[in-house]
Amino acid sequence: MTSLRASVAAVLMLAVSGGGAAAASTSEPSDAQIQEARQLAQQFFKNLKGELQSAIKEGGPVHAIDVCEEVAPGISGKLSTKSGWAVGRTALKVRNPRNSPSVRERAVLMDFKRRHDGGESLKGMEDATVIQEGNRRYLHYMKAIPTANVCLTCHGSDVSGDLKKAIDASYPADAATGFAEGELRGAFTFVKPLN
Ligand code: HEC
Repeated sequence: MTSLRASVAAVLMLAVSGGGAAAASTSEPSDAQIQEARQLAQQFFKNLKGELQSAIKEGGPVHAIDVCEEVAPGISGKLSTKSGWAVGRTALKVRNPRNSPSVRERAVLMDFKRRHDGGESLKGMEDATVIQEGNRRYLHYMKAIPTANVCLTCHGSDVSGDLKKAIDASYPADAATGFAEGELRGAFTFVKPLN
């Protein structure tokens, strides 16, 4: 996760820092580009959930922490290499400060939350924006991540005992607990240069 989040951040910094001006979205992304990001998001969620479920089954939740810590970046690494997108995860409340959202990501997450609070389903909730910086363009795609039942073990409201100790040891600033099933957990982020 670390280097990938860093690469997403670097791309976004490039995208938003130029000339001190806010990033402007100049054109609509194509359907094919959005479709590509959508498929990656689906694959990421499926792989991650599958790996978590089997890790918890095999070695218990403390062992499964490694899954979110190491396997998630592994999955994003593989997806990135294969696809050319910088893949990451972010949230309004993060466990790892490296996953903290950029200003733009935060605004999108707030919008997702507002829409979900207003009754819109998280399924298929997404944002695709083309960001222009000088003559470079980037597609920044974000997909809402709902909290599934298996996520509650480590992100729910009664994380305790050895698991809590293990999480606190690695993540002293952890803010990613207290979630309920069905709530917005965060978002996958995908960034790809378009030219
Ligand atoms: C076994 C414990 C465990 C389970 C189960 C788990 N997570 Fe995590 N989660 C973590 C850890 C540890 C991190 C920090 C990873 C890192 O260092 O990047 C994390 C980070 C995340 C992040 C990145 C943002 C942040 O808070 O740093 C998201 C999004 C996330 N988890 C979503 C989920 C979802 C969705 C599920 C269920 C499908 C899930 N997690 C299940 C332990 C878990």
